[in-house]
Amino acid sequence: MPQDRRPLIAGNWKMNGLTSDGLSLAEALAQNMKAETDPVFDMCVCPPFTLVAGVGEALADSAIALGAQDCHAQEKGAHTGDISTAMLSDLGCSFIIVGHSERRADHGETDGEVKAKAAATQASGLTAIICIGETEEQRDAGQTFEVVKTQLSGSLPDGAAATNTVIAYEPVWAIGTGRTPSLDEVQEVHALIRAELTKALGEVQADGIRLLYGGSMKPENARDLIALADVDGGLIGGASLKAEDFWAIAQSCV
Ligand code: PGA
Repeated sequence: MPQDRRPLIAGNWKMNGLTSDGLSLAEALAQNMKAETDPVFDMCVCPPFTLVAGVGEALADSAIALGAQDCHAQEKGAHTGDISTAMLSDLGCSFIIVGHSERRADHGETDGEVKAKAAATQASGLTAIICIGETEEQRDAGQTFEVVKTQLSGSLPDGAAATNTVIAYEPVWAIGTGRTPSLDEVQEVHALIRAELTKALGEVQADGIRLLYGGSMKPENARDLIALADVDGGLIGGASLKAEDFWAIAQSCV
């Protein structure tokens, strides 16, 4: 199986950061990245909407990509308070997280809505980071594989390809809790996702799509997680808010 996938370290700042904190964090990361002569990983930060433009400027001459945490599925129109993929592209975003479990829980987003958002992201020429993952109850009931398969097939747009799609497996019970599945458990779900992608999109695309693990990834566990055969990086929440920790996670790819 070809394994030339470049690790992606993506930071999800969630609803955190006022201007000065956000810009200092972005500037610190940009400086680290500029000092890296030949990075072996890609890095992306997804600040809240209020900071997308400013963080974009702070990252402008670094190799760190800009992302956002959500989007609307429509291009424009009467959707008060929403943000379109074209607007995010206009600010320099190249990634958009869609279907994060916090949006599925807080806003009742369904797989169908996530799929429409991912399709809109791809139609704007950006890469969708599609999040899937089981709750603790679902894991305890032995439903992890079924839940992950259903969310994946329901959230994956028809035009998904290695160039416009990243999948983040984030067990809901691992997010922000300090708990993670065992390495074997992470690898078995990632292998399942890869196998499902192969069925849906064919081997070439499935082999190229990066699968991120998310949920309490930190400098202490990142190296072992990222070393797993089907883990191609991380989607990091809490630890992405500290430049030192986020950078240390990226260094585990080296
Ligand atoms: P966490 O969040 O790293 O704080 O667990 C990950 C995520 O929700 O993307």
